[in-house]
Amino acid sequence: MLPTAEPIASPALSTISLLRKLAFAGVLLAFAVVVLGAYVRLTAAGLGCPDWPGCYGHLTPLGAEQSVATGASLSGPLLDVDKAWHEMIHRYAAGALVLLIVLIVALTSLSRLSPVRPRYALGLLATVVAQAALGMLTVKWQLTPLIVTLHLLFGLGTLTLMWWLWLTLRNHLEPRHAWRSRATESKDALQSRTERRARMLAGLALVSLLTQISLGGWTSSNYAAVACPDFPTCQGSWWPAMDNREAFVVWRTSTANYEGGLLTGAARVAIHFTHRLGALIATCALLLAAVYVLCCRGLRHMHAAAMVVLVALVLQLTIGISMVLWGFPLWLATAHNAGAALTLLAVITLVYQAQRLTQRSGGAPWRSVMPARAFKPNAHDAMRQAAHRRCCGTSSTNVVGRTCRS
Ligand code: HEM
Repeated sequence: MLPTAEPIASPALSTISLLRKLAFAGVLLAFAVVVLGAYVRLTAAGLGCPDWPGCYGHLTPLGAEQSVATGASLSGPLLDVDKAWHEMIHRYAAGALVLLIVLIVALTSLSRLSPVRPRYALGLLATVVAQAALGMLTVKWQLTPLIVTLHLLFGLGTLTLMWWLWLTLRNHLEPRHAWRSRATESKDALQSRTERRARMLAGLALVSLLTQISLGGWTSSNYAAVACPDFPTCQGSWWPAMDNREAFVVWRTSTANYEGGLLTGAARVAIHFTHRLGALIATCALLLAAVYVLCCRGLRHMHAAAMVVLVALVLQLTIGISMVLWGFPLWLATAHNAGAALTLLAVITLVYQAQRLTQRSGGAPWRSVMPARAFKPNAHDAMRQAAHRRCCGTSSTNVVGRTCRS
C-alpha cells in the first residue's frame, strides 16, 4: 500500500499558483494588445495622437477635445477623436501589460521561494519595454514600415514569453500535464530518433511561421494588401510584374509620413505576392510537423497540440483568403492578425512539448524558466519522492513513478 504523501510547502505552491494566474492574465492582455495594435494600424489610427505618451499633451483624447472646445489650438494634425481613442485604448492596454510584467518581476525577485529565474523575468521585462519603445518610435517616425513590423514582432514576442511561462507553471502545478515517457535508460534508438525529428520539425515550423508573420507585418505596414485584389491569381496573373528590389529595402532615411504607403504598385505587388508564397512554405512546414507527430504513437502526448496547430493553420489560411476575396473588410483583417497570434501559440506549445522530450534525462524543461535552487521535478513528483523516502528510507531521485517494493 502506498503511504500518504507529505504536503508540499504551501508558501512555495501559493507563490507558483499566484504567478500562474498572473501569467494567464498576461497572456490575455498581451493578446489584446497585439490585436488592438492591428486594429489601430488597419483603421489608419496609428497617428491618431501625434505625440507620446500623451495625446496632444493630454492624458485622454477627452482633454484634447476640451482644449479645442475652449478655442486652444493643438499642435500637429487635426484632431480626429475616434482615431485618437483607438490609439489611446491601445496605449492604456500596453501600459497595463507593462505594469503586470513589473509585478511578475517584483514577485520573482522579492520572493525567496520564487520558482521563476530572475533572468527569464528580466528578459520578459526587456521585451515589453522594447515593445513600448518601438510603439513610441512608430509615432515619432511616422509609421516607418521597419518599426511598425518590429513593433508587431515584439508584441508577439511578449505574448510568446508569457505563454511559455504559463505552460511551465501549469506543468509544475498540475501533474496531469506533466507528461513523462519511459525512462531514458529504457528508451530505444527508434524512440530517440522519433523525438529528435519531432523537435527538429517543430523548430522548423516555428522559424517558417515567424518568417511568414514578419512578411505579413511588412505587407500591412507597406499598405500592400490591395495590390493583389484577386485570388489565387494576383492582378489576373499567376506571376505578376513585381519590383522585388524596391519592395524589400528594409531601412529608408526619408522622414516622410508613411501613412497610406509610399511604394510603387509593382513593389507592393512583390510584397503581397511574397507573403502568399511564404504562406505556402509555412503551410508545408506546419503540416509536416503536425502530421509527423500525429503519425507517431510514441508522441501521443503531443497529439492534441498537433491537432490544434492544424486547426489554427486552416483557420488562418481561410481568413487570409476570404479577406482578399471579400475586399479586405476591417474585421477580417483584424481576425487575420488574431489568427496569426493563435497559430503562433499553437506552434509554441508544440515546440514546448518537443523540448520536454530532450530534457527528461538530465534536467527539466522548466530549467530555462526555473532557477536551480527552485528546481524540483514537479509538485506531484515531490510528493511521490517523499512517500518513497518514508516507505524505503532512501532519498534516491530515481524513484519517481515506481512502486516501492521494500
Ligand atoms: C500561415 C499563414 C499566414 C500567416 C501566419 C499570416 C500572417 C499575417 C500577419 C501577421 C499579417 C499582419 C497583420 C497585421 O496587420 O497586424 C498579415 C497580413 C496580411 N496577410 Fe497574411 N498570413 C498568412 C496567410 C495569408 C494568406 C493565405 C493570404 C492571402 C491569400 C494573406 C493575406 C494577407 C494580407 C492581404 C495582409 C495585409 C492585411 C492588411 O494590411 O489589411 N495571408 N498576415
